[in-house]
Amino acid sequence: MAQQKSIYVCQSCGYRSPRWLGRCTDCGAWNTLVEERLAPARSRKGHHASPDGCTPVPLANVDVAATPRQRTAIAEFDRVLGGGLVPGSVVLIGGDPGIGKSTLVLQAVAALGNEERPALYVSGEESPEQIKMRAERLGLADKAVWLLAATEVETILERLRSIRPAVLAIDSIQTMWVGELESAPGNVSQVRECAARFVRWAKETYVPTLIVGHVTKEGAFAGPRVLEHMVDTVLYFEGDRSHAFRILRSVKNRFGSTNEIGVFEMTERGLEPVGNPSAHFLAERPRGAAGSVVAACIEGTRPVLIEVQALVSPSVLANPRRTSLGFDPNRTSMLIAVLEKKLGIQLFGQDVFLNAAGGMRISEPAADLAVAAALGSSFLERPLDPELVVFGEVGLAGEVRGIQHALLRVQEAARLGLRRCLMPQTNLRQIDGVPEIERVGVASLNEAWEVLFGR
Ligand code: TYD
Ligand code: MG
Repeated sequence: MAQQKSIYVCQSCGYRSPRWLGRCTDCGAWNTLVEERLAPARSRKGHHASPDGCTPVPLANVDVAATPRQRTAIAEFDRVLGGGLVPGSVVLIGGDPGIGKSTLVLQAVAALGNEERPALYVSGEESPEQIKMRAERLGLADKAVWLLAATEVETILERLRSIRPAVLAIDSIQTMWVGELESAPGNVSQVRECAARFVRWAKETYVPTLIVGHVTKEGAFAGPRVLEHMVDTVLYFEGDRSHAFRILRSVKNRFGSTNEIGVFEMTERGLEPVGNPSAHFLAERPRGAAGSVVAACIEGTRPVLIEVQALVSPSVLANPRRTSLGFDPNRTSMLIAVLEKKLGIQLFGQDVFLNAAGGMRISEPAADLAVAAALGSSFLERPLDPELVVFGEVGLAGEVRGIQHALLRVQEAARLGLRRCLMPQTNLRQIDGVPEIERVGVASLNEAWEVLFGR
């Protein structure tokens, strides 16, 4: 008999060590190693079951047309997947608790089930009654969806043999467990082993499988990250819970491009795709208000116009406030410093608040120039042209640098009826055939100020 061995597993990154350590040598986290007993090694037979054993195939003979995609009920979801679900593919959907993962997955699988082969929704978190209530709210109560409230993986796989579902949803992987491992559900080893078994099952049966994983807060463990390498596609569902907008972002996709996004709105009746995000983000824009400017950003491969709002007002504090919602605070500090040093704008006695309207998060440096323009507009109490759109990166020397996809941004701005574009000089020659929008190229913040405020 093989002897039971112990191993210490970092709950944050999954690093395995034969002995206990106070600090993980891989990710540097403290007190994250947890002892786990290993079951005696099982036979690895059947791990990669290919129908005809193990025979190499000439590349030229591989038939790609044989993998059609199944479209779900949600166009934005299909778009992020690269055109629909591929048979046998495993999709991990990560996100904060309460963001709408269960809703998205239920809506997505509902269209794929039929009389013969239903969609199977396995929940370890909610009872069938709760799920039914959600389905009623979503108008999906009559769809061919079967529910299974279970958490033990072998039992679930056993049931799957008789049900033969058209699509499988596991909600969530942190509630699943296998008996051979002694650690508790939600532990890295459990999460990994459970996911591995579902992946193996999906590859053997060609049933597309959606796995929900909670992104755990700092200090908690075993988030979807430790599974990213095992699955075909990783999608993160993001958004600010106080806003209705949700962004589904693909960070890995073996069957499509990454960095694609889908935009949704959480409504009374579930998630509604937002086909025209720019129009939504600009819908409530105040016209002629100081501190507001439209930035042209790129999310994935898609241009999105977002309103940047700044409020600069005299501070009574010794350390004035610097608050950025939706922007990287470090980048904001840098821009403030450049404005002070290069343009002599004295912001040190001022509270500065910055906000990306609609709860969007902007990480692109291409939004720099828009942020600077919004700050200047609020500081000077000078409203900007409401038909203006701004993009460009700002460097430490106050230079305005070229950015990628300038044409896409200008086209999107023109499509939404904006008439003027302040942009990097170096990007000007890439713009071709958008006559309805006037382009003004600048090479420095100084030049930009001249255009914006006529200084
Ligand atoms: P849920 O899908 O349960 O989130 P997760 O699985 O990521 O934890 O949904 C979260 C929130 O969405 C919940 O607070 C209620 C809200 N919601 C709506 O606003 N409309 C709806 O139609 C549904 C089903 C949920
Ligand atoms: Mg849920």
